[in-house]
Amino acid sequence: METHEIIRRFTDHFVRGGHTSVPSASLILDDPTLLFVNAGMVQFKPYLLGEVPPPYPRATSIQKCVRTGDIEEVGKTTRHNTFFQMAGNFSFGDYFKAGAIEHAWNLVTGSQDSGGFGFDPERIWTTVYNDDDEALELWRKIAGLPEERIQRRDGKDNYWDMGVPGPGGPCSEIYYDRGPEHGRDGGPVADEDRYLEIWNLVFMQDVRGDESPKYGHPPIGELPNKNIDTGMGVERVAYLLQDVANVYETDLVRPVIARAEEMSGRRYGADPVDDVRFRVIADHARSGVMIIGDGVTPSNEARGYVLRRLLRRIVRSARLLGVHEPVLGSFAEVVRDAMAPSYPELVTDFERISAVVRAEEDAFLQTLTSGSRIFDTAVTAVKKAGGNQLPGDQAFQLHDTYGFPIDLTLEMAGEAGLSVDEPGFRRLMEEQRQRAKADAAARKTGHGDVSAYRAVLDAHGTTDFLGYTDLTSSSRIVGLLADGVAVPAAGTGTEVEVLLDRTPFYAEGGGQQADTGVLRGDGFAVQVRDVQSPVAGLNVHRGVVAEGEARLDAEVHAEVEISRRQAISRAHSATHLVHAGMRRALGDSAAQAGSLNAPGRLRFDFTSPAGAVPDSVLHDVEDEVNAVLLDDHEVRAFTTTLDEARRMGAIALFGERYGDSVRVVEIGDYSRELCGGTHVHRSGQLGLVKLLSESSIGSGIRRVEALVGLDAFRFLAKEHVLVSQLSEQFKARPEELPERIGGVVERLRDAERELEKVRADAVLASAGALADGAEDVEGVALVAAAAPDGVPGNDLRALASDVRGRLGARAGVVALFSASGDKLSFVVATTEAARSQGFAAGKLVPSFAGAIGGRGGGKPDLAQGGGSNPAGVPAAVAALRSAVRSAATG
Ligand code: SER
Repeated sequence: METHEIIRRFTDHFVRGGHTSVPSASLILDDPTLLFVNAGMVQFKPYLLGEVPPPYPRATSIQKCVRTGDIEEVGKTTRHNTFFQMAGNFSFGDYFKAGAIEHAWNLVTGSQDSGGFGFDPERIWTTVYNDDDEALELWRKIAGLPEERIQRRDGKDNYWDMGVPGPGGPCSEIYYDRGPEHGRDGGPVADEDRYLEIWNLVFMQDVRGDESPKYGHPPIGELPNKNIDTGMGVERVAYLLQDVANVYETDLVRPVIARAEEMSGRRYGADPVDDVRFRVIADHARSGVMIIGDGVTPSNEARGYVLRRLLRRIVRSARLLGVHEPVLGSFAEVVRDAMAPSYPELVTDFERISAVVRAEEDAFLQTLTSGSRIFDTAVTAVKKAGGNQLPGDQAFQLHDTYGFPIDLTLEMAGEAGLSVDEPGFRRLMEEQRQRAKADAAARKTGHGDVSAYRAVLDAHGTTDFLGYTDLTSSSRIVGLLADGVAVPAAGTGTEVEVLLDRTPFYAEGGGQQADTGVLRGDGFAVQVRDVQSPVAGLNVHRGVVAEGEARLDAEVHAEVEISRRQAISRAHSATHLVHAGMRRALGDSAAQAGSLNAPGRLRFDFTSPAGAVPDSVLHDVEDEVNAVLLDDHEVRAFTTTLDEARRMGAIALFGERYGDSVRVVEIGDYSRELCGGTHVHRSGQLGLVKLLSESSIGSGIRRVEALVGLDAFRFLAKEHVLVSQLSEQFKARPEELPERIGGVVERLRDAERELEKVRADAVLASAGALADGAEDVEGVALVAAAAPDGVPGNDLRALASDVRGRLGARAGVVALFSASGDKLSFVVATTEAARSQGFAAGKLVPSFAGAIGGRGGGKPDLAQGGGSNPAGVPAAVAALRSAVRSAATG
């Protein structure tokens, strides 16, 4: 059963049961206690707590969830997903334990034909909280579960709360027994791998305080109502119903593994170490796309950091599989296609999503490239010295300075014939962790960093910024910090912060990225990687001492990396033009809400109460902006009073604080804006501006992204090559391509539909012959045969039912097998007459399962399953025959 079908059945079941279907909340809810939404109940918290009257007494949802606590387990176990979907039903003071148990039981064990999941009731186990006799009794009464399959567990397992003060309650969990081949007997208390938890029913009635009832601390109060909060793991149910080996092989996740196989040329299932990498990729790709879909971008903090970690782990895993090209865009496409039926916004937002992953991958690959250079130098040095081990501090520096992951260092060192001093590396990592902790503690108490900057400010005043006109300067180091503490000097390799009396370096601000470059002093150099202004008026240069020893009071020659700065300035001027163009086209409501000016590219966010900007408008804006470039206007910057600037019609940004004296940047008379950034001298220097995409990034806010200058040209040139290739391939002129390709796709779709029908007809056509070939086994008509290869489960079931129908009133058993590669599936069906003689389809399965290396089960009328040994079908048929014979005669 496909995952989308599981979701549909769940929702239908509860809507039929009087629940309002509520869409999933965003993964990012305004709940300060959570990084990501991690359970279905999060959006209902105010109703559970009684803070807001619930608009409905019963609700059901399929909630997107992210849990990254177990990220290291991903791919190693059968069941850890960082992104998963929790299907839930909720009662706010309406039904309680009995209702929850009855609803869940009916869906889990209801036959598939009647809309249920069709799990074999004999394989279901449940747990209840310590002395919750009421729940235990209900499981016996409602589900008819024998007492030995209802286990009592303590709070650690069977009390649920959010991990923080708030709603909570005892719970009861539903488990499915995967069978003795997967572990020990004895129910969930003995083995949670064999007995897989699929559903948690929480009887939400308590208010938990600082300490959790999970560990014996009594709740601090009762909720105003007795509520129900349940969570069924959609991926786990899919994994069981699809009869695959783990959650990564289910229909919505597995396609990414397939793409990774194509890209790497390696096969999933061939090597256990590679398999973990495949699974990590599949899991993380999905989480990454879903998280970006909800508006998070990679960064070094909080959610952005989790996202960055996920994305970088994918790239790293792909490299370990031997793929060195960019992968994220491609994996994102696969995720989009798999998930779109439930999350259509992934399609409409895809350009943004793919831009985010591509940018992150670019950045990371650059990191890897520069790291590789350092790595090579280190390896050469070790070998020259006759050593065979890369020192721990080198591995640490690679990690710390270049973001080079240790497992990659290990792998590459191995390839170079060296080992790595891992204990040394880990010791340095630990020391760094301790430092970071002390640092964070210092920041919390309000001392630390800022006071060190303030001391410099008090002693030397603000930094004199020369960067509007100059890209180099002679300056003096007036402040030198290592680990946030003032130091007189810092040696090679030290991460430092440098404050100068004057600087050409632009500090990140107003959407414009920081400059990079170098500070050269007598016998030393500091590589500047970032410039920030943590205290107004101070530019803090962050980087590493690349050679010699940097000293306080030393004179330096400060040099901004020119090409990067120029590309950033071009982007910034282009942002002003796009902003002006949008306002001219859409009116003043198109106000800037954020921007990014990076080398060669820009992002411009603006308010658009009317929603998406039509393509035609974007076209016009792009056209107009490029015409402004050709006019080669002068770009002028000057300072004036805020009032005067306003009078001139300069655009000021909403929410910005401006002093009395402001800087205005104007481009001819096309654009006039308050701005502290750096710009080109004439609009012609921009060369070309290409708008790439327009998308929504939140309610009423749109984003355009654009390329500028050579980056824009290269993009267009690439597209041109692509179109030429397509033209060639489809033998059509470029302007005919959309129609031509549309036609081909249409024909392909028709052909696929036709093929599907022919195949289904052919399968059903064999029903007559199969029924005619029934053999008589002691009065029972037995049809046990191999159906054509590759018949999908649904069709095989339909075929078996058809054959059974043709057996009419006779006592009959139908067993059909269909191989597909090295796997096979089977269906067993019994006629009513056979059932009245005691034949049950589900019970017949074990008689032949061994022969085909399979398992399966079901109801007396219909059972199905799969196996791994198609060659065993004749033996299985023989085994079934003798089972039928002995049952008929016995
Ligand atoms: N809140 C419970 C859980 O997350 C049930 O939905 O398991």
